[in-house]
This record gives sequence, structure tokens and C-alpha cells, in this order.
Amino acid sequence: MKIYETAKIISEFKEPKEGDIGDFSFIACPIEIGEKVHISTHASFVGKGKLKIGNNVTISPHVTIYTSHPEWRYGLNKYCGDHNPVIADVNLEPHCFIGAGAVIQAGITIGRGAIVGAQSFVNTDVEPYTVYIGCPATKIGERK
Ligand SMILES: CC(C)(COP(=O)(O)OP(=O)(O)OC[C@H]1O[C@@H](n2cnc3c(N)ncnc32)[C@H](O)[C@@H]1OP(=O)(O)O)[C@@H](O)C(=O)NCCC(=O)NCCS
Repeated sequence: MKIYETAKIISEFKEPKEGDIGDFSFIACPIEIGEKVHISTHASFVGKGKLKIGNNVTISPHVTIYTSHPEWRYGLNKYCGDHNPVIADVNLEPHCFIGAGAVIQAGITIGRGAIVGAQSFVNTDVEPYTVYIGCPATKIGERK
């Protein structure tokens, strides 16, 4: 049995500071990042549209955001019959919180101060100061 030196690995892990992009993240889209933004580890931001992240936004680990998607290649997207990929900006408005493992589709706006629960699939705009969870994400309430 192989015994891993977990303590050593953990000691080398750096919690991302405000303004940093966490370790193991993959940023492959045009991006605009505001002040006091916290982006944790394993972020994956991919696409041809722009991702705009407002001030004081928190993005938990393993969040995936697409700003374009090529479903047409696989015949999956009924709206892409002309074989054009969807390219659409994503906006994370100030003070919103994105829970761990959430996936946000192209063209979505997450409203100011909203909360997206962990592991949600967001394919609809999220209203300001609300809480959305689930797959697909739906509104469960207002933020206190
Ligand atoms: C969305 C969230 C903020 C709600 O927290 P809360 O207000 O304390 O709500 P509760 O835990 O009371 O849950 C309310 C209901 O939603 C469900 N629920 C909560 N979070 C959920 C989620 N992410 N996905 C699906 N259902 C969820 C609960 O099971 C509960 O269902 P019920 O009413 O049928 O019992 C929280 O669950 C969450 O996802 N936080 C993000 C955690 C995270 O990513 N942390 C990373 C930090 S770096």
C-alpha cells in the first residue's frame, strides 16, 4: 500500500487571497474582474463571450462558467439549427455568491447579491438578492 504524504501536500496548498485566481483554475475566455473578488480553486471559465465579474463576488471551488457552447456540433441544441455556436456574455453582478461545483451557462446574469447553491446548473437568469438551487436551478427564496 502506498502511503501519501498528505500533510506535505496540504501544507503546500495556498488558500487564494482576495484578487487571486485559485490554484488549478483554467481561464479561457475574455474576462473582466472587479475589486474584492474571491475566486477559489478549480475554476473553469471557458468560451468566446466575455465573463464580467463585479465587485465583491465570491466564487467557490470547482465552479464552471461557459460563455459559449457548441452543442450544435452534437445536434443537442434545438436553437442552433443553423450550426452557429452560441456566444453570449455572462455577468456576475456585485456581491453575488456562487456555490461549489455550480455550472453557469452562456448568456446568464447572476443578479446583485444573489446566492447560487452548490452543484446547481444555472440556465436561467438569477434575480438580485434571491437564492437559486438545483438542476436546473430554480428560485427557493430571497436572500436575508
Ligand atoms: C443554497 C444554500 C446557501 C442554502 O442554505 P440554507 O439557507 O441554509 O438552506 P437549507 O440548508 O435550509 O436548505 C433549504 C432547502 O434547500 C435544499 N438545498 C440546499 N442547498 C441545496 C443545493 N445546493 N442543491 C440542492 N438543494 C439544496 C435543502 O435540502 C433544503 O431542502 P428542504 O426544504 O426540502 O429540506 C446552501 O445550501 C449552499 O448550497 N451553500 C453553498 C455551499 C458552498 O458552496 N460552500 C463553499 C464555500 S467555499
